[in-house]
Amino acid sequence: MNASRDELKRAAAMRAIEEVEDGMVLGLGTGSTAAFVVEGLARRVAGGLRVVGVPTSERTAAQARQLGIPIATFAEYQTLDLTIDGADEVQLGSLDLIKGLGGALLREKIVAAASRRLAIVVDQEKLVERLGEHTPVPVEVTQFGWQATSAALAKLGCLPERRYVPGEQPYVTDGGNYILDCRFGPLANSRETERSIAMTVGAVESGLFVGRTTMVVVASAAGVEVLTPPALGKQ
Ligand code: A5P
Repeated sequence: MNASRDELKRAAAMRAIEEVEDGMVLGLGTGSTAAFVVEGLARRVAGGLRVVGVPTSERTAAQARQLGIPIATFAEYQTLDLTIDGADEVQLGSLDLIKGLGGALLREKIVAAASRRLAIVVDQEKLVERLGEHTPVPVEVTQFGWQATSAALAKLGCLPERRYVPGEQPYVTDGGNYILDCRFGPLANSRETERSIAMTVGAVESGLFVGRTTMVVVASAAGVEVLTPPALGKQ
């Protein structure tokens, strides 16, 4: 089961890498699927492709360094050509996303927002009719006052739970914040929910990515398919 899901993730990653061109500045995503992207990219770099990557987490930065992909920061580049990242849920049709079960949502969103294109790589189990069907919306919050932020988020109609790592310690992000996993259930209006969370004092960022996706590469047992959001049409 795991091996074959990994094969699907790898297949989606390999298709997304075809979008990479020489000279690009790339956002490097976080998570098990994005790790396959970094691996594949490293092989192309070893073969002569010239790119630089802006990593969305310390984990991805370490992987990129180890595999020989040149990395950069926003000090050097404020606009990126393409980001390739994973997602936890993809809404069919709109291609809006829930991200952040891997804990990197803040940097992922900053990198996505600075990118001309955002390519998402998933296996078909991530596709949903409505965001929130299976996963909570992760919200990164400041440590200071997190209980008050949690109470304010609950008033939006969710059940927030502080994330822990095994060993009973609260999970702390690369930015030094906590994550509240907010279970809303299927969202009627994810754009409105994203806005409401953004207006909550103490909430740094949410894992709702609305209107940002350029393409989704989906791998299933039947093969690899590329989806594009309605506004963009087929690529
Ligand atoms: C990281 O914060 C997340 O947004 C990941 O991109 C997401 O959790 C997907 O991870 P997997 O590819 O491991 O499922």
